[in-house]
Amino acid sequence: MRKLGVAIVGMGNRSKAHAPLLKIMQDKFELVAICDGITERAKAAGATYNVPWYDNVQQLLVKERPDIVDIVLPPDAHHVVGVLAAEHKVHLMCETPISITLPLADAMINAAQRNGVKFEVAEQVYRWPEERLKRQIIEAGVIGEPLRVYCRFRTGAYHAMNALRAYTGWATPRRVWGATRSFAVTPFLNFGNPTQEENWEHALVEFENGVIGIHEQVSNWLSPFRRDLPRNLGVDASKGFIYENDVYVFANDGNQRHTMQIETIDVEGMAVPARYKVDTDPPVVWENPYTAYPVGDMDGIARIDYWHSLYDAIVHNRELNYGALEARKDQELPIAYRESARQGGLPVELPLKAVTAYEERMHQEYRQKYGSDPLQDLEKLANNVFPQMGIRWAA
Ligand SMILES: NC(=O)c1ccc[n+]([C@@H]2O[C@H](COP(=O)([O-])OP(=O)(O)OC[C@H]3O[C@@H](n4cnc5c(N)ncnc54)[C@H](O)[C@@H]3O)[C@@H](O)[C@H]2O)c1
Repeated sequence: MRKLGVAIVGMGNRSKAHAPLLKIMQDKFELVAICDGITERAKAAGATYNVPWYDNVQQLLVKERPDIVDIVLPPDAHHVVGVLAAEHKVHLMCETPISITLPLADAMINAAQRNGVKFEVAEQVYRWPEERLKRQIIEAGVIGEPLRVYCRFRTGAYHAMNALRAYTGWATPRRVWGATRSFAVTPFLNFGNPTQEENWEHALVEFENGVIGIHEQVSNWLSPFRRDLPRNLGVDASKGFIYENDVYVFANDGNQRHTMQIETIDVEGMAVPARYKVDTDPPVVWENPYTAYPVGDMDGIARIDYWHSLYDAIVHNRELNYGALEARKDQELPIAYRESARQGGLPVELPLKAVTAYEERMHQEYRQKYGSDPLQDLEKLANNVFPQMGIRWAA
């Protein structure tokens, strides 16, 4: 079986989820090099994974000529490395979000198309086994037609939008309303920065099939402040509802509750879920196609899936099972509701037909922060060490 050479760019926190998985998937991939703008970090990661290391991505692209660049950089940098790698005819795996604005996402998408390279995005939410089973439950008609889908999240809004879109059966969103608010709270450290404020985003999404999406999100997600706030996902439908991992089917004499069950098998000493199921009528089962790998957690199973998607697209010329265009849709929604919030809650129609004022402001902040236009000077920007938070919360 053909192996694809992967170079990871960005050896911060998230790379620790990528590099070990590539090792587990060594039937398909080989880590061939790593890069980080912080020289000491690059050197240490090179030693850890026993591969050549670089602190300059352009040198890596020229010298290593990998099949795939895995972009695990802060979001402000995704398009910078994405465009440069595509111009070197290197396929792209990109962490979420695809980019901070749609023009920057489009720069990557166009570069990939122009150069004939595949472009997958590491969105995992709809790929979580529990989420796949929920979608099958909805498709089987067990709870009737979805009416309202909702999500409270502490991390990227694009993940939340991915979950909501999946629950609607990937219906097209037509309109959004947004409200963002800052609240005074007791002092705490946010990424080491003292702050007394937290920001909440609230959004309503109207889908073409009449389903309403409801989303709320706090932006201080890595601070201690709301760390323990549970993620909250649900579907209210015409014959019942799903709340987290429980399915409730309406009956006049009391709802029937069905809790998701997991059957595991032993794979190299690891309990790997073989199937997720609910004993509804009819019963619904999701079979894990990746039991060949000793990966037992839902996020890991989802990550195997996006690597498979890219592998099959490159080697077998199959369609990506998510891809950059879907990732763009998941990012278009937060952009649109932030634009609505900026306009005092006026509805914003979808799809967006022009660059929003919110995005213009992001680009302006980008120029101020990094001294370069985000769509120009990519080679210069590639040498900048981008911070983890960047400008992504500017609203
Ligand atoms: N899918 C998920 O659930 C999930 C979870 C966490 C993070 N992420 C995403 O992963 C990405 C990385 O996040 P992180 O938490 O690892 O950030 P991080 O700041 O910990 O790591 C980023 C690394 O990139 C390096 N870097 C910055 N600019 C560079 C450049 N020009 N060239 C080479 N290296 C450069 C930094 O030195 C740093 O080591 C982000 O896009 C984030 O949104 C996704």
